[in-house]
Amino acid sequence: MAKSTIDSRRRALIGAGLTALTPFAALAALTPTPRQTAGPFYPVELPLDDDNNLTMVRGQTQPAEGRIVDLTGRVIDTSGKEMKHMRIEIWQCDARGIYHHPGDRRRGTQRDEKFQGHGHTITDNQGRYRFRTIHPVPYPGRTPHIHVAVFLPNSRPFVSQIYVEGEPRNSHDFLYQQIPVEKRHLVMMDFATENPEGIPTGNFDLILVQKSY
Ligand SMILES: [Fe+2]
Repeated sequence: MAKSTIDSRRRALIGAGLTALTPFAALAALTPTPRQTAGPFYPVELPLDDDNNLTMVRGQTQPAEGRIVDLTGRVIDTSGKEMKHMRIEIWQCDARGIYHHPGDRRRGTQRDEKFQGHGHTITDNQGRYRFRTIHPVPYPGRTPHIHVAVFLPNSRPFVSQIYVEGEPRNSHDFLYQQIPVEKRHLVMMDFATENPEGIPTGNFDLILVQKSY
């Protein structure tokens, strides 16, 4: 057999070997989602209506202002194992850029009372969660983001922020810039797909270190 043919077969075998190794490589620890500050606007008092649909507030007849989106994903550990039955919360400013928080001086009559501001849910047996909210908007000094927290037994909550892919304000946001460049994809999301209801949907998985729960 010609040497070149043998070489090509060896290369094919090496390639096959690498392919066969892929499942083992997948077992390597995943990089955890970077933590970020909760910021000053975590609710002092949780709203009475605090479910996972932030776009409809009990007692209001109209939905929240802004572009309605779904936010879905999983909470997993660094081995890829689902973290089920975990309380996950999100909070963000309304479509006018105002937090429903006494520390936001622009609140009061200016705020959108039809937006819930904060919501929570519990991850299911596969670690999945789902929220309906509004596409995050900028407010003075910050690029658009959604705050997120996962409450862990016997540990402090995991807290971070979710950013929007392709948002030009990210490049000069002081909190986003604190995240190492190689980890920024772990706090990034887009709303490029639509769910069966035609609502733009973003997928965001949270990867938490095992020792934290
Ligand atoms: Fe914020």
